[in-house]
Amino acid sequence: MTKLKVAVLISGGGTNLQALIDACAGDDFPAEIILVLSNKADAYGLQRAKKAGINTSVINHKDFSSREKFDQKMDEVIKSAGAEFICMAGFMRLLSEWFVEKWFDKLINIHPSLLPDFKGLNAQKQAFDAGVKTAGCTVHFVRKEMDEGPIIVQKSVEVKKDDTADSLAAKILEKEHEAYVEALRVYCVR
Ligand code: GRF
Repeated sequence: MTKLKVAVLISGGGTNLQALIDACAGDDFPAEIILVLSNKADAYGLQRAKKAGINTSVINHKDFSSREKFDQKMDEVIKSAGAEFICMAGFMRLLSEWFVEKWFDKLINIHPSLLPDFKGLNAQKQAFDAGVKTAGCTVHFVRKEMDEGPIIVQKSVEVKKDDTADSLAAKILEKEHEAYVEALRVYCVR
């Protein structure tokens, strides 16, 4: 089986990355991770990648004078690794229009809300504070506007009376792991 070659962009702990690593370990999963790229050298997700024998790269955005220059470097590294598709998994940088156009429909993101509700940072707390009864997560194609783009998979969780913002975020994160694996599979077999 020819597997889709995927680069995963991270900035932190990488539990979504781990879910993708675990799924990709299956012989019948249609994708493989060939690169994990972080803008932070201390992102724990890099350890997860190394443990799984996946190549890693750190590109510190602070070393570049503009967003475009940082994105050009990422593009260069991703291309030379041979990636055909990109998953953003807790990557905390906005991408330039140039990068988004270059990877149009080959670049997906996960966001911890039922988009189009609660875009931006701390989406889980935004949902909790708004008092919604149902929260969740979304995997979507990336467009130039933040947290916009065609939706691939959404999963919801019930907000219970005894939930706190933190317990809700933890429930959403569990669903994220399922949603991301499902979205990547759906993309590959479409
Ligand atoms: C997730 O909640 C994701 O939706 C958001 O950042 C968090 C990353 O978590 N964009 P992890 O690094 O995958 O554990």
